Amino acid sequence: MSEYAIELEQIKMVYQDAKKNERTVLDNIALCIRKGEFISLLGPSGCGKTTLLRIIADLQKPTAGRVRVAGLEAKQARLSHKYGMVFQTPALLEWRTVLENIQLPLEMQKVPKAERRRRALEQLEIVDLRGYENSYPRELSGGMQQRVGIARALVTEPEILLMDEPFSALDEFTKERLHGDLLRIWRNTGKTIVFVTHNISEAVFLSDRVCVLSANPARLDAVVDIQLPRPREDAVLKTEEYFKTVSYIRDIFEEKYYENI
Ligand SMILES: Nc1ncnc2c1ncn2[C@@H]1O[C@H](COP(=O)(O)OP(=O)(O)O)[C@@H](O)[C@H]1O
Ligand SMILES: [Mg+2]
Repeated sequence: MSEYAIELEQIKMVYQDAKKNERTVLDNIALCIRKGEFISLLGPSGCGKTTLLRIIADLQKPTAGRVRVAGLEAKQARLSHKYGMVFQTPALLEWRTVLENIQLPLEMQKVPKAERRRRALEQLEIVDLRGYENSYPRELSGGMQQRVGIARALVTEPEILLMDEPFSALDEFTKERLHGDLLRIWRNTGKTIVFVTHNISEAVFLSDRVCVLSANPARLDAVVDIQLPRPREDAVLKTEEYFKTVSYIRDIFEEKYYENI
């Protein structure tokens, strides 16, 4: 068995535009993500973060390179539900209750009804939404809807959680609350989390390691170990070490920026 949750070897992605011009979006990305690790993919909008996450999830094929997820080929990992996915907008079905939304992936797996309900309720508890099982998405705040999205991703009990800018549409207060919730879930479940963001502070606060991606094409410029203590409480946000780490990563981006103009 591999000690890694995800292994990326020399991933390259080249898109063709309407005029058949080729554009390299990801260039030789190589990265091994450890089991149980909280890792962020950080880079500016349009640099290729979603593309990379979709390649890990086997939702698209890289032009070149090799992907292994939970020790399996990416397709095998997808088919055996090794990961759950959370998106920027939770895309809940408006006509289904919270509990019915969370159960959706289990219906696709043909899990019996009583077990579906039991497992969905368990996840509802984990994301702290007990009492909202019969509410409809429109009755919930943005932060609560995103927690339903997380519960839906966790309900199949995947080893890995892939999250694509899950909190970027939320206000600062809600975002901070969800950071705390996510870290608690991570600590209690031992999942591997791959968290895509364009927000430096968010990446630093949450992660064990931050992968700094440059744009055009995205290369892995640096992988920064975040030494801040665990469990991470909000108090960390006011420490000098936190500021130093954020500035250090900011400097990496600025250096790149000036190199490119
Ligand atoms: N299917 C596609 N065909 C052509 N270009 C694409 C496609 N998907 C994404 N791109 C381009 O690749 C670049 C990276 O996109 P994306 O991975 O969504 O970036 P990010 O998530 O970092 O904002 C963007 O310039 C985008 O326009
Ligand atoms: Mg994106």
